[in-house]
Amino acid sequence: RRSPLTGKDGYDLVVVSNRLPVDFTVDDEGHVDWKRSPGGLVTALEPVMQKSDGAWVGWSGAPDLEVDPFDADDMRLVPVTLSATEIERYYEGFSNDTLWPLYHDVIAPPAFHRQWWDAYRRVNQRFADAAAAQAEQGATVWVHDYQLQLVPRMLREQRPDLRIGFFNHIPFPPLELFQQLPWRRQVIDGLLGADLIGFQRAGDASNFIRAVRRLTGYTTRGPIVTVPGAEDRPSRNVRAAAFPISIDSRTFDELARTPEVQARSREIRADLGDPECMMLGVDRLDYTKGIRHRIKAYGEILQDGRIDVEHVTLVQVASPSRENVGAYQELREQVEGLVGRINGEYAEIGHAAIHYLHHSYPPEEMAALYLAADVMLVTSLRDGMNLVAKEYIAARSDDRGVLVLSEFTGAADELAGGALLVNPHDIDGMKDIIVAAANMDVREQRKRMRRLRRRVLADDVSKWSESFLGVLQAMPSRDTPRTHA
Ligand code: G6P
Repeated sequence: RRSPLTGKDGYDLVVVSNRLPVDFTVDDEGHVDWKRSPGGLVTALEPVMQKSDGAWVGWSGAPDLEVDPFDADDMRLVPVTLSATEIERYYEGFSNDTLWPLYHDVIAPPAFHRQWWDAYRRVNQRFADAAAAQAEQGATVWVHDYQLQLVPRMLREQRPDLRIGFFNHIPFPPLELFQQLPWRRQVIDGLLGADLIGFQRAGDASNFIRAVRRLTGYTTRGPIVTVPGAEDRPSRNVRAAAFPISIDSRTFDELARTPEVQARSREIRADLGDPECMMLGVDRLDYTKGIRHRIKAYGEILQDGRIDVEHVTLVQVASPSRENVGAYQELREQVEGLVGRINGEYAEIGHAAIHYLHHSYPPEEMAALYLAADVMLVTSLRDGMNLVAKEYIAARSDDRGVLVLSEFTGAADELAGGALLVNPHDIDGMKDIIVAAANMDVREQRKRMRRLRRRVLADDVSKWSESFLGVLQAMPSRDTPRTHA
């Protein structure tokens, strides 16, 4: 546990998230290897981690994989082991079949199972123990996302000396939905173990504050909750606030400017038969993303004859996700059925109506797709932020392209000035806006894209992490002695 940088017996900054920022592979002889997985969070936190002597606690992504902590890119990586049953109950079950649908407006019905809750508690305790073992006296621990909502309190119980931050990457639901959760009080208490709780939108933070007031009766004043003390503990203030996340905008902008990506983007358009208008959707194959609504609207526009397959095409990238969860399997059937029907009805030889790609691609290919696309369709029914919208903007240094953006994304709070906002439930309204996007003149595109780019290039992910950690570290420190062995 000794830090190679400082010689101290713990780390000053410990990040805790369900997944580690690396992918593991195990070969036939059982030899474990890893490589960095690209992702906004790691790009944001890496510089901070390197500066401040940091460790990252997370799951390897595979069942029963026991790997000792190791150093990578000046960070300590600490793998947490999950059994196959825990993956089923904690990850696929409680995280992705209870909390995920509940926190996304119950678009799919959440399932409530006591066995899943027990596994969630146990696994959260394991993450908390691992983080506590890595943290130096008075260290900062930053816990991420809905899979780990009990960790802040579990950590505080063992380590009252720590500064604890939590960031929720997905929406926090209105009380009327959150109330459905049989373990709602435990989740609130778990989160209130943190000093600072970050959300994507101001609306998420106020949903949380309202849930705290109604379910605990604690006093709140604006964004501050006062958690009453007990005999041996003073009362504490917890702050809840919005910190909208972003991407590594500069790096993405530079990637999209490289000759390789530019050439690849021309090649994509040529391979599509040089359409007048290429539309693009890029999503994890998730029912929150409104993929069916988007494709239905697109099919009707073709049916109405407002566009035709010789001039316009839609590329839909749907990256595989959570494939063991029933709701995701059903969604895949529905989307693929719909795409098949629309192509069967409207495609011509050499002109597909929809190019459907059930794959994930490296950032270079994504940048080329964004550059090739005249219209970007982001039609989520509910989305914490939506970083695809921001990537599209960062890729467009040519100031061209139109972003169609759902009102139900966190990104809409920031990008309303330049995007065309849609309500994906209003199919007729969405059809009109998609057609308007396809016909938007270049001057209007420029004006809007410039506005969007100013916003996304200024507010990047390092600004996000600095502002969260800045607020967290400005909170009063605790001088309680370290209590664990
Ligand atoms: C969302 C969540 C993340 C999650 C990601 C991919 O963005 O906020 O916590 O890691 O989806 O989902 P997965 O289940 O594959 O980790």
